[in-house]
Amino acid sequence: MKKTLLGAGIAFTLLLSPFQQAFAAETTGELRKFDNVAHRGASGYAPENTIAAFDKARAMKADYIEIDVQRSKDGKLVVIHDTSVNRTTDGTGYVKDLTYEQLQSLDAGSFKGEQFSGEKIPSFEEVLDRYRGKIGILIELKAPELYPGIEEEVAQELRERNMDKPQDNKIIIQSFNFETMKKMNALLPKIPMGVLTSSKAHTTDQALEEFATYADYFNPSYGIVSKELVDKVHALGMKISSWTVRSHEAAQFLIDMKVDAIITDYPDYVDPRMGVK
Ligand code: G3P
Ligand code: CA
Repeated sequence: MKKTLLGAGIAFTLLLSPFQQAFAAETTGELRKFDNVAHRGASGYAPENTIAAFDKARAMKADYIEIDVQRSKDGKLVVIHDTSVNRTTDGTGYVKDLTYEQLQSLDAGSFKGEQFSGEKIPSFEEVLDRYRGKIGILIELKAPELYPGIEEEVAQELRERNMDKPQDNKIIIQSFNFETMKKMNALLPKIPMGVLTSSKAHTTDQALEEFATYADYFNPSYGIVSKELVDKVHALGMKISSWTVRSHEAAQFLIDMKVDAIITDYPDYVDPRMGVK
């Protein structure tokens, strides 16, 4: 188990009888609370990975925004999902082959609707400065194998802002690249780390035990989630966040599975009280 505090929490919970655990859950509601994570911002309602989508997530009172971090040709960390700009902007080419100035000149909003025209690809710095302390940030290192050294650069941006202390800022880092996550855990030991997968091969006891040596979260696509998997992940002292909810049925399924966080394009599908603001 990676984190002492997490271990202590579990040890405390295990001291309770099953009846007491159920009672605590029913009466406090806390043990069953899950985080509502706006995937690439509230991307069902605004262009993904833009300030418009992140502001929308805040307005909807999501607990976290999820962002994808990559790097421009001239070394600036930027927030965009695909490794090329083709789908979400009016430009073409790979993120890694375009300078920050070139990326900034692109329209990253119109693909979602004309009312969003003029939205820009945000820089990582801009997102940290605008949202730190206001909403949690789930930072995904997207395709880090394309960006040698990006782990240290992300760590440095967080350290410079004193955001490497989890008690003050809700920050979690995740990636599909497990070697990157091991590096991140060594660089920022106090920040919770997550491993992303959609592969059942990563849900064996052996694989999960290995993840638990450096990760705090096991974050699978919802198609491979089961109650058994949730229990196994919890027994190893990790939490489980699942993605990507784009229907009411998927939201209900993950609520029933009692995952710790639900990553969704539509925060109101997970909590209907939110409404679309
Ligand atoms: O946060 C989970 C999710 O973002 C992983 O998939 O492709 O949307 O980055 P993707
Ligand atoms: Ca992502």
